[in-house]
Amino acid sequence: MGFAAEEPAGAPPAGATAQGQTTPTATDPYSYQVGFGNRFATEAIAGVLPRGCNTPQRCKYDLISEQINGTPFVSPRASLLNAWFYRIQPSVVHKPFQRLDENPDLEAVFTPPNPNVVFTPQDLGWDKFPLPEDGASVDFISGLRTIAGHGDPSLKEGIAVHVYTANAPMIKRAFCNNDGDMLVLPQEGRLDIQTEFGRLMVRPGELVVIQAGMKFTVTLPDGVGQGYIQEVYGSHYELPELGPVGSNGMALPRDFETPVASFDVDMSKWQIVVKLIGQLFSYEQSHTPFDVVAWHGNYAPYKYALENFVNSATVDRDQSDPSIYCVLTAKSKRPGVSTSDFLVFTPKWSVTRNTFRPPYYHRNVSTELMGMICGKWSGSATHLEPGGLTYEPSYMPHGESYERWKSATSEDLQPQRVGDGVMAFMMHISGHVSLTKYALERCSNLQPIQEDLWDDFQPGFLKHLSGGAVNGDAKPHVNGESKEG
Ligand SMILES: [Fe+2]
Repeated sequence: MGFAAEEPAGAPPAGATAQGQTTPTATDPYSYQVGFGNRFATEAIAGVLPRGCNTPQRCKYDLISEQINGTPFVSPRASLLNAWFYRIQPSVVHKPFQRLDENPDLEAVFTPPNPNVVFTPQDLGWDKFPLPEDGASVDFISGLRTIAGHGDPSLKEGIAVHVYTANAPMIKRAFCNNDGDMLVLPQEGRLDIQTEFGRLMVRPGELVVIQAGMKFTVTLPDGVGQGYIQEVYGSHYELPELGPVGSNGMALPRDFETPVASFDVDMSKWQIVVKLIGQLFSYEQSHTPFDVVAWHGNYAPYKYALENFVNSATVDRDQSDPSIYCVLTAKSKRPGVSTSDFLVFTPKWSVTRNTFRPPYYHRNVSTELMGMICGKWSGSATHLEPGGLTYEPSYMPHGESYERWKSATSEDLQPQRVGDGVMAFMMHISGHVSLTKYALERCSNLQPIQEDLWDDFQPGFLKHLSGGAVNGDAKPHVNGESKEG
């Protein structure tokens, strides 16, 4: 419907710290403010944002001022996260809560007392998570499935890993996750996401972060949607420190995109679904939650195109740790320890000399969950396909297959382009991760364990023992010498 604004909507208003704004493309009809963590300011009707205060006695056009924050009021200024909305109806106008038991595959607490999660040291893999069956109508909320996690949202510490598969839009229904910040990675189909802050179109190859407490609804412009979600409790995603890399490289702040204000005038009935400690509740309200005419602040959703990540790597010899692929990190309560580092693997040049170039054999304190957006992951002992997932528990050894080891240790090392057409990611989680009963028992795509996966690995060292043999009959040795007889 029309609105008789005194001034036309247009460029970001005075006071905005991010003046850059993108323009729509063929696959994304929306515009965005650019920058990471900026104190944005955006108006769908010019002149709505108050000047010199946040809560004037009466807001312009009788809008309601309402604050949302992501950190306590007295947090250090550098870490404060909040936003002010100027909206048609305050969020508090709603009916009482009801329990909503529509999704039994959600979990939030990953500690041993929860009978619905299992700890295992076994590495595991899943093929692509299947889309909903024909005839079923599954939206983003009912299509959420929790796979794994660590910690407990009631303690504001930990992480949950979900997948979603959906084939239906959310209609007059919004989701609000009070447990943590969700980093969503579409793998198939775009997500058209309407939030209180404005709209985002997110395609496979992009990530979107929607923080705790924010309402959003998801429609599927391509008819289906499938992807991954990393949810962190108690902290928020940050860009990693750059250290000796310097002030450039990795994920560049100006490649992050945050919505501009847009609003609906809709006084019809809406259902709001709230996730709290993994349980769903719902309430009704007689107005759209997407009625924010203007907002400012730095607690706001954003998206990022992963192909923009600027790879850094060793250019002479040896390997760097995979932390050089970190896009976003979220702190844990332990100083210097992240809850999870989110890494992305995109095409790059491999140029090192006298170096074992594939991932080295390793045992990490962290648990690794790896997924693929597109491409073919070749040469690894792990079977991973787009839409699938692999799990390497804390401290359990892993690395390349024997065949890959043989080729990597004998090939002529020339500068080589690797990973063209591939986009993979890893959740590098600093703790023991339990798996859900859904992931281990109810889903149909858990791969069987390959019992003979490593049986062909030959200890080449034994060929070098004087008088020794290769096929299992080498003699014991002491201090590097064969102990004969
Ligand atoms: Fe690893």
